[in-house]
Amino acid sequence: MLTLNKVSKNFGGLKVLVELSLTVAERGIFGLIGPNGAGKTTVFNLITGLLTPSAGTIEFLGQSLDGMAPFKITRCGVARTFQNIRVFKEMTLLENVLVALGDRPSYSALSMLLPLPSHRRAEARERERARELLFRVGLADKAERCAGTLSYGEQRRLEIARALATGPKLLLLDEPAAGMNSVEKDNLMGEILKVSDGALSILIIEHDMRFVMEICQRIAVLNFGRLIAQGRPEEIRANPEVIEAYLGQDDDVIDGRSGAAS
Ligand SMILES: Nc1ncnc2c1ncn2[C@@H]1O[C@H](COP(=O)(O)OP(=O)(O)O)[C@@H](O)[C@H]1O
Ligand SMILES: [Mg+2]
Repeated sequence: MLTLNKVSKNFGGLKVLVELSLTVAERGIFGLIGPNGAGKTTVFNLITGLLTPSAGTIEFLGQSLDGMAPFKITRCGVARTFQNIRVFKEMTLLENVLVALGDRPSYSALSMLLPLPSHRRAEARERERARELLFRVGLADKAERCAGTLSYGEQRRLEIARALATGPKLLLLDEPAAGMNSVEKDNLMGEILKVSDGALSILIIEHDMRFVMEICQRIAVLNFGRLIAQGRPEEIRANPEVIEAYLGQDDDVIDGRSGAAS
């Protein structure tokens, strides 16, 4: 579904990614892990068109994303959440999702051209769809609340609902469990597994090893901008180079016992 072919990214003299090749298959949950500063978020920024590769190519569903504007990449079916939460805090949850629904190509332009009653019907359908998305991430009962009143974990889930609103085929999640307590993490895991049920593929960056090991079918490990390992969770856990890369971090991180992000 997604192929990175020898993708490199330099910021001035700094080589942040070095000839990264990666293939994400359709369906399932793919994990991208690595120590802080390894280049993970940069990978997401390159896939979504916020950055352009210094070298190499990225293909999504057989189509090259080279030079494509971010909104066009969204239309191709790639959506993401950000490591730093980006929701409209003064707006209700429902409004937050409605705005994201409005970003789809069909809705806003079309509804303008329609006569009023059908416009209203379309609007009602959009609200229904927005509530459905909030339900999928376990926030249906808070639809009318202001997003700013939500806990950190709830805001992260709202972000996922907003990303889902664009109708993605591939969803990129950047550290969705960061700042969550273990109960919130367990809930989020369930929601991500539910959401990935079906045609949606997920590429997830996550620090919490337990989280990654439990929900991902495949994992790629970055260290200093290079791919050092790729495989099934049990292969990654036993990989000496991966263990080496995580040395100096909290021991529990590699055991997958701790919820602490480092
Ligand atoms: N826009 C940028 N300009 C310069 N350096 C950047 C930029 N974005 C990221 N970097 C650097 O690239 C490296 C990798 O960053 P990042 O992809 O955010 O890592 P990760 O998400 O794995 O923690 C870091 O050293 C970071 O400081
Ligand atoms: Mg990051």
